[in-house]
Amino acid sequence: EKDGYDTFMEKEINDQPKAVEDTLLGRTDASGRLILDELRIDAEELKGIAKIIVLACGTAAYAGMVAKYAIEHWTRIPVEVELAHEFRYRDPIIDENTLIVSVSQSGETMDTLMAVRYAKEQGARTLAICNTNGSTIPRESDAVLYTHAGPEIAVASTKAFLAQITAAYLLGLYLAQLRGQMFTGEIQDILADLHKIPGKIQQILDNADQIKDLARAMADSPSVLFLGRHVGYPVAMEGALKLKELAYIHAEGFAAGELKHGPIALIEDGQPVFVVVPSPRGRDSLHGKVVSNIQEVRARGANAITVAEEGDDSVTEFSSTVFFVPETQPLLMPLLATVPLQIFACALASEKGYDVDQPRNLAKSVTVE
Ligand code: M6R
Repeated sequence: EKDGYDTFMEKEINDQPKAVEDTLLGRTDASGRLILDELRIDAEELKGIAKIIVLACGTAAYAGMVAKYAIEHWTRIPVEVELAHEFRYRDPIIDENTLIVSVSQSGETMDTLMAVRYAKEQGARTLAICNTNGSTIPRESDAVLYTHAGPEIAVASTKAFLAQITAAYLLGLYLAQLRGQMFTGEIQDILADLHKIPGKIQQILDNADQIKDLARAMADSPSVLFLGRHVGYPVAMEGALKLKELAYIHAEGFAAGELKHGPIALIEDGQPVFVVVPSPRGRDSLHGKVVSNIQEVRARGANAITVAEEGDDSVTEFSSTVFFVPETQPLLMPLLATVPLQIFACALASEKGYDVDQPRNLAKSVTVE
């Protein structure tokens, strides 16, 4: 069942090309238009949505953060993302024009379920992005968009995360299509790029040795920081969470722009800092800003380990190690940049002799509040 891998986590990391591919499968008609019939929510109703609130916990919430950047950009519908357990207790503003998008691998996370129930009581429409057929959250939601990652056994979420992000992109593009927000050609170009992602993930997997070697060399690190901007920010948070969960190392993910507002005080000689570098072809001056962030931490003695787009040689001179990932559209980058961070955490934890499938104190599905 582990397909020859030592652990489920390794297997699931390696399942990711298929998880993304299967989540994309069958969701367009012959003319390339997105069809999400399974949503069970009326197209007219979806057209009237004035606000989206994404609710989730843990890794699923980071998928939700990525969703926010993409859905807002493509649909111009305001999107909030909130941890499900915080949402319910803050008297949120919801009505029948609010679409609640829950994200959950298991479909049984109690915090998320309770938040969805609460939103329903307040009159919101609810849509579940979920990996488990027939589980409670999709059963109790008005609509469902299943991720097809297959069963995820390891406690740390990997392939479900990439599948959740993929599903969120499909939802965003579908809403843009419904509302006439984007040209069909534009949507098709993004879909074509999404279909190229599985092959690109495979390239990263085929070159995993460099990451594993670094992980082994860093097994004794007491603390590791992760920086990112834009969609690289949730990727940084996810990289940090994987390292905490699996290797019990103190790790934090920051928005790189926040550095000088406090976290830079943590930097001292030898501090490892992972930096998720946006594409140099991206919008605005994001790439340049992140390169300056790298220089800032380096000037204070940090070891910068960068995840950058293939061909982006500008970061090499400032990095102790660079992991190159294939190029794609800036918004789709999390589907690639996350993979080295997962491999890193898994390899480092294995090096320390920890049980990567069943880390201490954690349950696969948190069914209590
Ligand atoms: O089943 P869910 O997606 O609702 O689970 C949410 C979180 O509990 C889960 O992602 C958790 O953070 C993982 N252990 C992360 O690896």
